[in-house]
Amino acid sequence: MNILEELRSRFREPLSQWVDDPEPYLAMVRRAQDVRFGDVQANFAMPLAKRVGQNARELATEIVASLDVSDLCEEPEVAGPGFINLRLRTDWLEQATASLVTDERLGHVAVSTARNYVVDYSAPNVAKPMHVGHLRSTVIGDSLCRLLRFQGHRVIGDNHIGDWGTQFGMLIFGYKHFLDAEAFRREPVQELARLYRLVHQLSSYHDARRELPAQQEQLAQLRKQIEAAEKASDVEPKQRSRTLKKLRKSLEEVAERCRQLEAACAAVESSPELKSLADAYPDIAEQARAETAKLHAGDEENRRLWELFLPSCLDALQRIYDRLGISFDLTLGESFYQPMLEEVVEELQGKGIATESEGAVCVFVEGNEAPLIIRKTDGAFTYATTDLATIKYRREKLKAESILYVVDARQSEHFRLVFEVARRWGFGNIDFRHVRFGTVLGRDGKPFKTRSGDTVGLESLLDEAVARARAIVDENDDAKPDGPELDEATRTAVAEVVGIGGIKYADLKHNRESDYVFDWDKMLAKNGDSATYIQYAYARICGIFRKGGVDREQLRREGGTIRIERPVERALVVQLLQFPEAIDAAAVECRPNFLAQYLFATANRFTAFYDECQILPEQDADRRRGWLLLCDLTARALKLGLELLGISVCERM
Ligand code: ARG
Repeated sequence: MNILEELRSRFREPLSQWVDDPEPYLAMVRRAQDVRFGDVQANFAMPLAKRVGQNARELATEIVASLDVSDLCEEPEVAGPGFINLRLRTDWLEQATASLVTDERLGHVAVSTARNYVVDYSAPNVAKPMHVGHLRSTVIGDSLCRLLRFQGHRVIGDNHIGDWGTQFGMLIFGYKHFLDAEAFRREPVQELARLYRLVHQLSSYHDARRELPAQQEQLAQLRKQIEAAEKASDVEPKQRSRTLKKLRKSLEEVAERCRQLEAACAAVESSPELKSLADAYPDIAEQARAETAKLHAGDEENRRLWELFLPSCLDALQRIYDRLGISFDLTLGESFYQPMLEEVVEELQGKGIATESEGAVCVFVEGNEAPLIIRKTDGAFTYATTDLATIKYRREKLKAESILYVVDARQSEHFRLVFEVARRWGFGNIDFRHVRFGTVLGRDGKPFKTRSGDTVGLESLLDEAVARARAIVDENDDAKPDGPELDEATRTAVAEVVGIGGIKYADLKHNRESDYVFDWDKMLAKNGDSATYIQYAYARICGIFRKGGVDREQLRREGGTIRIERPVERALVVQLLQFPEAIDAAAVECRPNFLAQYLFATANRFTAFYDECQILPEQDADRRRGWLLLCDLTARALKLGLELLGISVCERM
């Protein structure tokens, strides 16, 4: 049972005596932050009183009088200006916990109406560096699929890979001009990555060379303006400092841009080899674009190269997914939708939704200056056209009712427009959601980059996580009072689980919308908000059962009473009973961090309980049995919860 939802629903009737729509007030029934105020607190009396013109405390008292929660709670208490405090009854807690012992879902009840979800996640751009942003999408998206499926929905996880973009023109150009055939034969993906980087570097070099003079000019102008402003004597001091502040800010921005451009130039000019290539191909960017255009127009040679490149690029991605233990139900890349794009544009034009404007086909969306372009002046279709075709396919072929896009927050505008156009087009019955996320930052506060900045870099990042985890596993095992327990193979396996789990958890524990700093030490901290800590709590419980020679299956079968005698027991029980709430909150809001938080708190409650209760030596057989049942429930909650985040556990660590 989702206790919070249950208690909310008990307020619905009493509240509807006062307002037509009680829902916003029901949302103010929450878990209490402090046990002194009970387990659940209703804070709606104050705003409601204001609205209906009554005294809040009296209103709260009246509502409580018609509230029926006696089966779950002690007598409700009205506190302060009108808070309603609810405290779960001990006997109810004991009986509810006992009923979890044989419940595989740990009290969670599946939804009564299952929906068809398509979750669009991971979606790296093939042949282009897969960066940590795609790792974020992959990890969050995977967890959302697991959560929604656990809730009872039908979920299709779809990896909408970018396998048709402009990067292929760059690759094709690189392949035709700079190929190291021997390297390509040996390590195709690495050679393709090299070609991509080379073409990218040369074309950015020319761009930078072109842009630099104007930026330098602007820099000089700003310096002059600042000098003038500093000297100006006829300006009011406040006004002057405002002006100066603005100018200096612009100066800083332009200076930064100049530094970037100069660095891009220096990188090429400092290498005679690169410089001569740059000189030999001054219009490399246009030529690469032309190769893309040829590919899209069906040019045979370019199509052949695309088909040659794709499999090894996909293999490289697959290695990452295997390592992460992540799989998709579908991998329909952008190329899959190409045959449908023409029709999308025709339909939208036919319905008068899209119109021609300066040679391009556009949809104008109110409140938005720039239109959504679905066909460019040169005839090329866009990222947006593909997304619209994808929506139609997902609705008509996959029967999607909800589509979640787990994509970087920087694409918010794109999705806002695409959803709006899709609604006008007739897909208003789909519940669209951009599940946006922030940037992963390095210690310096700038976007985090792996050393080589590509898929290979991402793989070495995972390697590093596992290597660091291995050091922790070794240290921990070596320090065990009765000597090390793990053999070499086990240590290797544990390090993989800890390392990969650490990376995933670090991502999932943050509010996805905020940026976060990538920090190895926090990620693998044995004592702290990390997967490692939760995994160790799990292994510790397994150790108790091993040491006590307890058969968990049998323990569950035989059952027993769980008595609540101490605050640490009550706290753990109340925590365990919140499992369904954590799942539902994480799934409904698409925020796996709610579940991560829950698991961390559960591990903490368990630690407090375990510190105080000597389980195996306990003489009172019933009490010992009750404690063992609590251990079993905790271990199951941790394991299942981590599994829904896509993180594994080990029985021994
Ligand atoms: N490949 C895109 C990128 O890396 C993300 C695709 C997201 N999904 C979508 N349907 N647009 O930016």
